[in-house]
Amino acid sequence: MAEKRYMVKIESLEKFFGEDKERVHVLKGVSLDIPEGSLYTFLGPSGCGKTTTLRCVAGLERPEKGTINIDGKPVFSSGERIYVPTNKRPIGMVFQSYAIWPHMTVFENVAYPLTIQRRPKSEIKKRVEDVLKIVGLHGLEDRPAPKLSGGQQQRVAFARALVNEPKVMLLDEPLSNLDARLRVQMRLEIKALQRRINITTIFVTHDQAEALAISDQIAVMHAGKLIEVGTPHQLYSRPKRKFTATFLGLTNLIDGKVVESPGDSKPAKIETKKGVFTFIPATRLEKGHPAVISIRPEHIQVHKQKPQQLENVVEGTVKEAIFMGDAYHCQIAVGDTLLKVHTHPFLTMSPGETVYLHLDPQSCNGLPAEDIEGMDESMLGN
Ligand SMILES: Nc1ncnc2c1ncn2[C@@H]1O[C@H](COP(=O)(O)OP(=O)(O)O)[C@@H](O)[C@H]1O
Ligand SMILES: [Mg+2]
Repeated sequence: MAEKRYMVKIESLEKFFGEDKERVHVLKGVSLDIPEGSLYTFLGPSGCGKTTTLRCVAGLERPEKGTINIDGKPVFSSGERIYVPTNKRPIGMVFQSYAIWPHMTVFENVAYPLTIQRRPKSEIKKRVEDVLKIVGLHGLEDRPAPKLSGGQQQRVAFARALVNEPKVMLLDEPLSNLDARLRVQMRLEIKALQRRINITTIFVTHDQAEALAISDQIAVMHAGKLIEVGTPHQLYSRPKRKFTATFLGLTNLIDGKVVESPGDSKPAKIETKKGVFTFIPATRLEKGHPAVISIRPEHIQVHKQKPQQLENVVEGTVKEAIFMGDAYHCQIAVGDTLLKVHTHPFLTMSPGETVYLHLDPQSCNGLPAEDIEGMDESMLGN
């Protein structure tokens, strides 16, 4: 297999805002490699530094330290004193507010970046028509921008970002101004467009469902630091950090202490107030250290009779069972802990019932308990 080529490489980025006492450390050594042709998402709670990182790539912010390479060429290096201005970087941008010119037609909006470069009229016409075809807006050249639907305006913003033939597209929460339905539709459209033209894209969002749906890779951020990078599948099913497990989707956390850790992805054990659980580690955990088991609500198997010969079975009492059509969403008490459990809709569940929960070792993620200083439970996806 050909070696993976990185279109954007960011190394040890440090960024501060403000002066003296007001000075805040916003990016604390962010390093990441973005593969060519991929859709790469920065995901994290508001204020964690996603936009700042993107603006550093765009050349709209100047970091204090670090290096940024695009397409193999340095566009920023604190050590070598390199700073390539925005208009010389091979990027296209779409922001939260599309910033489409209301007094211009579709054609004029999309042509704008070329018009200010004073390109020949014939070249402008050809390139605008090409990108309008790509985004599916050909035929609407003369339509005034305000006479477009939300989805069409978004496509104009895309076309305008593409018209300079950038190597990298930078999208900062481009869907957050749309209503819920259009949001879901447009994220599929962005993904399809990105695949079709195979352009390396950095997508910023604080919405974990959007990140899961659209990304090839997700970089989870918190308080100016990168927490974990992986595919949506890796981060959802085998997170290595507690913050990832809780920020992406719903999960249950059970506190305990590692009592067996043979290493090499061999089954390990954690002792909790609910008993000893076996799990397959995704990350190295030291014996004797505090840890948590994280298990998703849909990965807990409910049995009405106590299963024999299974590991990790606990008895619980159904406190609440809400029928959602495709599942029951239950709260099940195991001692003084309430576990969230999603069960198959054919398995009727009634409050007060005694059930047996199987926490399959394959679905249990053992994670270090210490995670992030100052982590506030209210920011978590639960
Ligand atoms: N121009 C600025 N001046 C001072 N602080 C800023 C500025 N821009 C962003 N910040 C601060 O930097 C932090 C990261 O902001 P930002 O990158 O916009 O976060 P995100 O996009 O993840 O919500 C926040 O605490 C924000 O208040
Ligand atoms: Mg932002």
